[in-house]
Amino acid sequence: MFLWNGELVEEEEIQVSHKDRGYYFGDGIYEVFRIYKGKLFEKQAHLTRMYQSLHNVKIKVQWDEHALAAKLDELVALFGEHDGYLYVQITRGEAPRTHTIPDVITPVMLGYCEAYTSPYSQMEHGIAAITVDDIRWHHCHIKSLNLLPNTLARQQAKESGADEAIFVRDGIVTEGSSSNLFIVKNGVIRTHPANHLILEGITRQVIERIAKSEGIPFESKAFHVEELMDADEVMITSSTREITPVISIDMKPIGSEKPGPITRQLQAAFNRLVD
Ligand code: PDD
Repeated sequence: MFLWNGELVEEEEIQVSHKDRGYYFGDGIYEVFRIYKGKLFEKQAHLTRMYQSLHNVKIKVQWDEHALAAKLDELVALFGEHDGYLYVQITRGEAPRTHTIPDVITPVMLGYCEAYTSPYSQMEHGIAAITVDDIRWHHCHIKSLNLLPNTLARQQAKESGADEAIFVRDGIVTEGSSSNLFIVKNGVIRTHPANHLILEGITRQVIERIAKSEGIPFESKAFHVEELMDADEVMITSSTREITPVISIDMKPIGSEKPGPITRQLQAAFNRLVD
């Protein structure tokens, strides 16, 4: 089943207009919720971020948060006790193509669940990454549908035989193409501050909480690409990749070129939350 403009429908009933501003302008936002054994993980945090994204791009939706949450629960209940993710996107709606936003326009919502398991082999052994220029706009905190820089960066990583592209803006490491990035140096975890230059990941929030409860020093502080290359450990996090160690960047080894002890400690604590 699909959630289509607030109603649960079969796929055949979904008809996207060629006038949808999402299609013309990427004028919309999205959210990826993780499902573990039929339960939404960090549901409220994702909902809050979704409504924040809507607010930031001035899309006024006809569904209040409470009603939408109930619909998402229905959708997930139909999905069953599986592992997967829930994708929700809301575009501004249909209108003849003009850059300005019509005074009256009805947002269009699509939501669905997809079976999915985390990339366990990558989480166990680590991945290679490349660095790329962060050519994105200055509103990266909004989970907008405009993902062209992200998809191109990720494609570049793939063509280089790597699994993630790490954005670097003016020498400062921001985040991955679809993940947040953390380094560990001398026992301290460091990640870019949650400002307009990164998406504040829900997994990032969970990592911060875990670090606190495990007594691992955690700093939200920008760092240079040289500090990235010189880190003891590097990891990326996201709802779909959980905590994935990065063991080489731009073909150079990071630390011992194996997932490090703090990465392992965070992974173990994370597993206890989702098991
Ligand atoms: N992306 N930064 C960017 C640019 C992202 O696209 C994502 C997630 C994250 C991590 O956010 P979270 O921990 O809330 O998943 C950080 C999703 C998974 C996607 O686009 O598919």
